[in-house]
Amino acid sequence: MYDAHGRQIDYMRVSIIDRCNLRCVYCMPDTYQEFQPFEDLLSYDEFLTVLRAAIDLGITRFRITGGEPTVRAGLVDFMRRVTALEGLQDVALSTNGLRFKDLAPELYEAGLRRVNVSLDTLRADRFREITRWGDISDVVAAFDVARAVGYDPIKLNAVVMRGVNDDEVFDLVEFALEKQVKVRFIELMPLGTAYPWAAERWVPTPELIERLGTRYDLEPLENGAVRGYGPADYYRVNGGAGVIGFISPFKEHFCQACRRIRLSADGKIYPCLAWETAAVDLKPALRRGAGLDEIRLLLARALEIKPPAHMFEEYQADELKRRVMSRIGG
Ligand code: GTP
Ligand code: 5AD
Ligand code: SF4
Repeated sequence: MYDAHGRQIDYMRVSIIDRCNLRCVYCMPDTYQEFQPFEDLLSYDEFLTVLRAAIDLGITRFRITGGEPTVRAGLVDFMRRVTALEGLQDVALSTNGLRFKDLAPELYEAGLRRVNVSLDTLRADRFREITRWGDISDVVAAFDVARAVGYDPIKLNAVVMRGVNDDEVFDLVEFALEKQVKVRFIELMPLGTAYPWAAERWVPTPELIERLGTRYDLEPLENGAVRGYGPADYYRVNGGAGVIGFISPFKEHFCQACRRIRLSADGKIYPCLAWETAAVDLKPALRRGAGLDEIRLLLARALEIKPPAHMFEEYQADELKRRVMSRIGG
């Protein structure tokens, strides 16, 4: 399925809950309480209806995300039903890793094979500052268990913040090489709580590549060399010791290669992470028991209004603040 700008859309990020067991500084204020009431969230049956309609349209790759997806009860059964969907080409999970070590074996058994885990720092005290109360050993264990269980690929997502954790990028690479996971450095985006302080903490990817290049031999990898359908650009480290990825929303033409839409936990399709177009609300149709035909039409509408590019630069402050990442699904 193509959008109005000629991009093939085949990947849907599915946020199953807006709640999280952490409060990362760039994502939510520590006192954040504006979670959606449970009855406003789609049920797993409703999610599966949307996924089926999406697959019919050629959107066959899904990422289950949040908030934090592991805090919603029933995730393992849901995963089993997702992996059994006819026509599905890929499903992956994004998690903060706190509960993943306990769920990893069951999720694997339910058919999940790949996982992306967030980890911005390797220092326990700093981890607590960034996440407000997380215990880093749970996340380190998540990588170990994921490997032992057989997940592949395993990716480590680190948001780079100047003056907060940018002194640790070499340590994060070393950690990733040792654990045999693929590290990805994400540019901080000025959304939600991260607005406006993201501006002065933003580390542009070219600067980071230059710094990493002083210690590592980095060779760009062709598209598709690393399994995944997101926006990362990958580099081979030292001729094959590992892989580093960069997610650079401010790179020119980043949006031209976009193949994603997002489904929020309350049933809205966001055609873009940062664009003012109203989202397409699937919930009324789902709650009235609409058939796959009607859901397909609504999904097609979302593709029609998918904008050519994000509007970080053009947005007004209040609009940027209103975009809460945990609600949109990262
Ligand atoms: P792979 O299939 O493994 O490549 O997944 P992914 O990179 O799409 O998924 P993940 O959840 O690990 O995404 C990492 C981060 O990339 C997200 O949390 C966002 O911060 C960022 N990201 C993903 N898609 C977009 C996008 O369309 N626009 C922007 N601005 N950022 C995005
Ligand atoms: N900038 C960049 N990434 C963000 N995330 C949340 N907020 C931001 C932001 N302002 C992403 C991170 C984190 C995931 C859950 O959401 O990638 O790992
Ligand atoms: Fe939770 Fe992820 Fe937001 Fe951190 S960034 S508070 S782990 S949803």
